[in-house]
Amino acid sequence: MKVYDAILSRRSIRRFQQKRIPLSLLKNFVNAARIAPSAANLQPLEFFIVNDESLCSKVFETLSWAAYIKPAWAPSEDERPVAYIIILVKNPKKNPWIARDASYAAENIMLTAESEWIGSCVMCKIDREKLHSILELPDEYQVDSTIALGYKSENPVIEDIKDNDVKYWRDKNEVLHVPKRKLEDIIHIDKF
Ligand SMILES: Cc1cc2nc3c(=O)[nH]c(=O)nc-3n(C[C@H](O)[C@H](O)[C@H](O)COP(=O)(O)O)c2cc1C
Repeated sequence: MKVYDAILSRRSIRRFQQKRIPLSLLKNFVNAARIAPSAANLQPLEFFIVNDESLCSKVFETLSWAAYIKPAWAPSEDERPVAYIIILVKNPKKNPWIARDASYAAENIMLTAESEWIGSCVMCKIDREKLHSILELPDEYQVDSTIALGYKSENPVIEDIKDNDVKYWRDKNEVLHVPKRKLEDIIHIDKF
């Protein structure tokens, strides 16, 4: 898969097949994150792979899903993520660029997953205190974000944004529609 094609086809996936992801692939995703750009090449991030089924269930309880979908929704038991990669930061106060480093790492993980036809969703609405204790992390580590992973069981579509409404929505067939701003509305070439 070409990188541009992976970028175009990647959507946040929140419904997954209950098929395990080989650990070797999960390690490849972390390897892709390991060599992402990092401010001053400080490389402040570490990555926690959650692959064990019962640990996956515990991590699931710390997450919040698709806030725009009403009434409140979360994947049912037979469509939950089968693995997570949790982005960790050691001593977060020492580095002002951590959010950017973590974002580049997260995108590397998600695009590498996409190239294997594995769906992902980066998640930041997390009960961090609870997750910290579930993962038994040392005090100096902080959870930045969690990437939910699994083979896709939904195929969200993008559509042109209407009336500046950014809210994604589900149609009667349960297809998720994700509004995106049009290229001509965000691009400036040689002059503003
Ligand atoms: C910083 C950040 C935090 C996010 N946190 C969550 C989250 O907690 N729960 C969730 O379901 N999706 C979360 N998302 C996914 C966004 O809802 C999603 O990227 C957005 O709706 C656009 O859809 P797309 O990823 O398919 O293009 C997050 C995305 C980003 C970039």
